[in-house]
Amino acid sequence: MKIAVIPGDGIGREVMPAALAVLDAFDLDMEQIPLEIGYGKWERTGCALTDEDLNIIKDCDCVLFGAITTPPDPNYKSVLLRLRKELDLYANIRPFSPLAKIKLPCNKKVFDLVIVRENTEGMYSGVEELHEDAAYTTRVITRTGSERIAESACAIAKKRKKQITIVHKANVLKSDSFFRDVCKGVATRNKISYNEMLVDAMAYDLVLRPEKYDVLVTTNLFGDILSDVAAAISGGLGLCPSANIGNRYALFEPIHGSAPDIAGKGIANPIASILSVKMMLQWMGHEKEAVVLARAVDSVIAKGIVTPDLEGSYSTMDVSEAITKIINVP
Ligand code: NAD
Ligand code: IPM
Ligand code: MN
Repeated sequence: MKIAVIPGDGIGREVMPAALAVLDAFDLDMEQIPLEIGYGKWERTGCALTDEDLNIIKDCDCVLFGAITTPPDPNYKSVLLRLRKELDLYANIRPFSPLAKIKLPCNKKVFDLVIVRENTEGMYSGVEELHEDAAYTTRVITRTGSERIAESACAIAKKRKKQITIVHKANVLKSDSFFRDVCKGVATRNKISYNEMLVDAMAYDLVLRPEKYDVLVTTNLFGDILSDVAAAISGGLGLCPSANIGNRYALFEPIHGSAPDIAGKGIANPIASILSVKMMLQWMGHEKEAVVLARAVDSVIAKGIVTPDLEGSYSTMDVSEAITKIINVP
């Protein structure tokens, strides 16, 4: 397997070495191709992701991604969005369950849910116009795009409780009644039961009753927002991994960003990135190693070896080294 390794910007550059140290502890036969891509490169060279970078990435099997800075500047095109589109990574899979011993913001019961987020269209279609007195973003929802994300959700549901929740805003948006109806058809065809929730009510219920949900399927921007809500109730962004899956390629990354407020201090929580390595190992078929990694993470948290976001005083690399040690000597 050939992995393109993109640390990116800010804490991406700190959590990536921590994650790679854990991956290297398994001594698997993998080639790592390091690439400098992101806002830092754009500032230095005027280009955040070159065509040559893209060719190198397309010659790899998958990507391990840290985090990038995407400034709110209409002239800057997000590298991550370009990668998701170019590699056709249409399913963004974001699992959430509080890890053992994590102090949650409120007294939640145990929960275990997956957000299956459409990753190539919707509000992120790129069909936009910026004029002097108005700006337009076209929310593109296609049958093909909706069918394939619904199929991904059903495939995950088949291994779980055989049910999905379709999250939309069909009371207002025609594009979402279309999305909902396509999802219902796919669920019926797959013998998966479904219910539906309006996205605003979903955000509310996710905070109050996360244990009610199993597999949520939704459009691009709603999935983005709901995943940060789910991260908050799971113990924080520093814990939550994701997999961007297509038919040919995959990209694994924490759901958090480059966190400029803590970058450079060596205190970023590396667990989201380390659990993204776990998702990569599962995608590659290394199930046994994925289980060992998850247990090592649980054990390190249980010992209180955690970064300041979890009220600990350990550094990014302290956490990584503690996890690596357990993998080496279980
Ligand atoms: P963020 O996710 O970077 O940070 C939000 C908050 O969570 C901050 O207080 C940060 O300190 C904290 N946090 C995030 N990850 C953490 C970790 N591993 N350990 C401890 N604390 C952590 O979101 P933001 O501040 O809105 O965005 C910063 C930049 O990142 C922006 O340019 C944004 O566009 C970009 N971004 C990139 C990605 C990505 O690369 N996938 C995702 C989200 C945001
Ligand atoms: C995420 C991020 C990205 C998104 C940004 C950085 C383009 O917030 O992966 O959740 O909106 O998808
Ligand atoms: Mn996000």
